[in-house]
Amino acid sequence: MAEFLQIEGVSKSFGPFQAVRDVTLSVAQGEIFSLLGGSGCGKTTLLRMLAGFEEPTSGRIFLDGRDMAGVPPWSRPVHMMFQSYALFPHMTVEANIGYGLKHETLSKTQRAERVREMLDLVQLTPFAARKPHQISGGQRQRVALARALARQPKLLLLDEPLAALDKKLREHTQFELMSIQARTGVTFIVVTHDQEEAMTLSDRIAVMDRGQVQQIGSPTEIYEYPVNRFVASFIGSITSFEAEVMARDGGALRLKVPAFGGEVTTKDANFAPGSKVTLALRPEKLVITKERPSGNAVQGVVKDLAYFGKDSLYRITLASGALVQAHAVNQHRGTETQRVADWDDQVWLSFDPAAAIVLGA
Ligand SMILES: Nc1ncnc2c1ncn2[C@@H]1O[C@H](COP(=O)(O)OP(=O)(O)OP(=O)(O)O)[C@@H](O)[C@H]1O
Ligand SMILES: [Mg+2]
Repeated sequence: MAEFLQIEGVSKSFGPFQAVRDVTLSVAQGEIFSLLGGSGCGKTTLLRMLAGFEEPTSGRIFLDGRDMAGVPPWSRPVHMMFQSYALFPHMTVEANIGYGLKHETLSKTQRAERVREMLDLVQLTPFAARKPHQISGGQRQRVALARALARQPKLLLLDEPLAALDKKLREHTQFELMSIQARTGVTFIVVTHDQEEAMTLSDRIAVMDRGQVQQIGSPTEIYEYPVNRFVASFIGSITSFEAEVMARDGGALRLKVPAFGGEVTTKDANFAPGSKVTLALRPEKLVITKERPSGNAVQGVVKDLAYFGKDSLYRITLASGALVQAHAVNQHRGTETQRVADWDDQVWLSFDPAAAIVLGA
């Protein structure tokens, strides 16, 4: 895939404060790329530089092979959709969508045709004559999207596009956003601080912390193969243990993990014997059993249990005092007696060597 957007060593300082530090990444045409990170990590600042509202302090941005330095926002084939969609309350849905085209040199019929296409794209044709207060939050979000896409940008920047929606509607709208993106082929860069949203929407994700990109990868890469402790704990939940590499044999590592009851075997082998490392275990990779299983296993007591219907989350205290989170799918229908384990039960926790994440300490 051609590199459509290239960001090379971009930094942005506000006075002495560096909001974005040395970001290098590229995005392919037609990709949905997410910037994911906590509040204040520089996501909006990076988007604003792509849109041309801010100039980088250093570094360069290329869009479709063209250097964006000094190119004003209105001359870039980029549109930024802000978090507050800023629909005009006194205008109809149709007029709001058409408003985006007011600076374009289109005939009246061309403009009407484009608006019609956009209404159809976001499935709001029946609502064309309504005002924003007469439609739902999810529909308002789609009006804003249609208005942004009406101008046919090559790159659409979406800053927390779904933040105003409640959880159910947000999940539904995520799929709509993906289907609209697929139909238009426009490259999307989506800012979010919601990791599940980033995982659902994106082809690739850049995880940011304090202005820096920590890791870029597909949702699976980021989740299953985090490169450091920040990414591991930012994406999903995880229990970490201090460990030391005892031996390395082919693809296997033998680790000493005092808090996990002794020694365990894992698959990641990029550390030499003697290295201090972190063993990180995700809740769904841990298996809870009443009987002692073979392999990596430790005994503990169920301290807490949260039942969510489809699954349950257990908090298990090990002999070392460590608290581990483990997740179990409730495959059988029934009451408490059907659960894998109950409060205060003695259980075994085990995991497959390939399921563990080993990171630098
Ligand atoms: N114009 C400015 N002047 C000074 N500091 C700024 C300016 N704009 C942003 N910052 C600072 O830069 C940092 C990054 O801000 P930014 O808005 O990019 O964060 P963000 O990742 O979008 O956060 P959020 O998720 O809360 O929207 C913050 O610490 C912010 O206070
Ligand atoms: Mg922001």
